[in-house]
Amino acid sequence: MVREWDPRTASSAEIASLLDTLNAVLAADLPQDPPWRANSLREYLSEVMPGERRISWVAEGGPAADGTPGPMLGHVNVLLLGGMGVLEVLVHPELRRTGLGRELVRVAARRVWDEGFQSIGVEVVGDTPAVAFYEALGFTKEYVETRSVLDLGAVEWPALAEMATEVGAGYHVEFCPGGPPDDLIEAYARAKAEVRDVDDGELRPSSYDPQRLRESLDTLHRRGMKPYIVLALHEQTGEVAGLTEVVVPAQHPTRADQYDTIVVRDHRGYGIDRAIKARMLLELRSAEPELAEVQTWNAQANEAMLKVNAELGYRPDRDWCEYSVDVAELVHRLDNQR
Ligand SMILES: CC(C)(COP(=O)(O)OP(=O)(O)OC[C@H]1O[C@@H](n2cnc3c(N)ncnc32)[C@H](O)[C@@H]1OP(=O)(O)O)[C@@H](O)C(=O)NCCC(=O)NCCS
Repeated sequence: MVREWDPRTASSAEIASLLDTLNAVLAADLPQDPPWRANSLREYLSEVMPGERRISWVAEGGPAADGTPGPMLGHVNVLLLGGMGVLEVLVHPELRRTGLGRELVRVAARRVWDEGFQSIGVEVVGDTPAVAFYEALGFTKEYVETRSVLDLGAVEWPALAEMATEVGAGYHVEFCPGGPPDDLIEAYARAKAEVRDVDDGELRPSSYDPQRLRESLDTLHRRGMKPYIVLALHEQTGEVAGLTEVVVPAQHPTRADQYDTIVVRDHRGYGIDRAIKARMLLELRSAEPELAEVQTWNAQANEAMLKVNAELGYRPDRDWCEYSVDVAELVHRLDNQR
């Protein structure tokens, strides 16, 4: 049975059951990824940026003989933002190829259509059943990135410490756990606005103005995702010349996510990219003793960034694709397939 579901008011048993399904999916599709924990999972599923909305549904199995509610065997949520819906779907591996995934997408797509949105986007992990699934539903591939993973156990720390110091004269590198300090928010937002040559996927919107940036940091904190930032400050002007952002999620604190890395155009060629990323890893090593890996996503055309990541020890892992579809077409197709 598919029903609308609100993670804010869901019982702890439902959240725990959804976590079991998510971990069964990870074990089947991405066995190298760490399993998720219950920490802040409710908040992860509930909290959104101001102006955004997430609507969720679950597919629940039948109750047990003693009346215990059935398990959460499938889940779909759609994040409504900027004219599009961003979809996430999960079906327990034991229930796959029974049409449940298609039904979950149908229900969500119908709502996106009713809300007046035109398109749906989704992140699809290469070499998983999701590729054939979304292609069967008429989604088309828009963009491919490569996910790379750095194993901290394999890092040569003395070499990394050296890299962290190799930055041109006139720059000061600073570690900012929790986010940029308030007096640097404006300079930070300017750096992000000037350069959009980022490490990140298009379905994860970046924040380019100070207010939006504050809201984005607040949302991260509320979702249990701890941000860390390393800045390169240009001493002469006080401007932010470069920045790199890593988030350690409470849901999988052994594997952090590398978000944006930006070096402002005028400040390229001084070793800032490599130095700030190396400094970040050194800082994380002491700030997050549980951390074992860092993952990052890069456009395949971004050769400079890929080269730096390779020097730091990142190894390419999988394709990470963005697919999209016109909502009207999808709703029509799925209604006809019922
Ligand atoms: C993608 C996913 C939702 C599909 O769910 P599902 O319930 O198995 O999908 P359906 O049974 O509705 O399949 C619909 C159609 O998609 C296509 N399809 C789905 N899985 C497929 C596969 N493994 N191979 C080929 N085609 C596939 C088929 O055309 C299928 O129709 P058919 O069974 O009549 O031939 C499910 O595999 C899943 O949860 N994957 C994990 C999603 C994810 O986010 N992964 C990232 C890691 S967390």
